[in-house]
Amino acid sequence: MAVALKKVPENRDLVTQNWHQKAREIQKFGEVTESLPHRLDADTRREMCKKLNQLLADSITLRDMYKKHHWQVAGPTFYSLHLLFDKHFEEQVEIVDTIAERIQLLGGVSIAMGGDVAELTKIQSPPRGREELPVQIARLLAAHKLIMEDCHKIAEDADEAGDDGTNDMVVSDVLRPNELQSWFIGQHLVDMPLTHAE
Ligand SMILES: [Fe+2]
Repeated sequence: MAVALKKVPENRDLVTQNWHQKAREIQKFGEVTESLPHRLDADTRREMCKKLNQLLADSITLRDMYKKHHWQVAGPTFYSLHLLFDKHFEEQVEIVDTIAERIQLLGGVSIAMGGDVAELTKIQSPPRGREELPVQIARLLAAHKLIMEDCHKIAEDADEAGDDGTNDMVVSDVLRPNELQSWFIGQHLVDMPLTHAE
């Protein structure tokens, strides 16, 4: 039985042309749209988006540092920390998504690509190579501290601006999980005897 050949669409050239489309941006970074039924004025939302983009860039950096440490950790606590770092990475994925979507719904543009994030973040970049565990943890704690301080500041500013949604988000969805993660990793820097009590 003859197999029917698939018919090539007549507009094939048009289809392949569609793969290489470029045009101007529809919204510049730093701008806010006016199209949302939001009770906050544009200036307030622009200012809030700027602060949230800083928080986003720092959270993306912390998220990626957790994956780096998940891969590169070594030593007697390798197994538990390998798993813990990945758990925190997954939680930071959620946090990052929540912040980014808050920026978008406020009418702003979320920072997204690694190069742009690297330029904006206030967290010191770790070296490409591997570091000892206490250094890995110290870097994570410093990043958490910076993010938590920003959360307090943004929550205060959001409260003053009447942005209840942002206030609630930074406290419930960003600050609290960061506090918990800091506690979990910070305990690994407490010098405790492993086999003989002092
Ligand atoms: Fe993994």
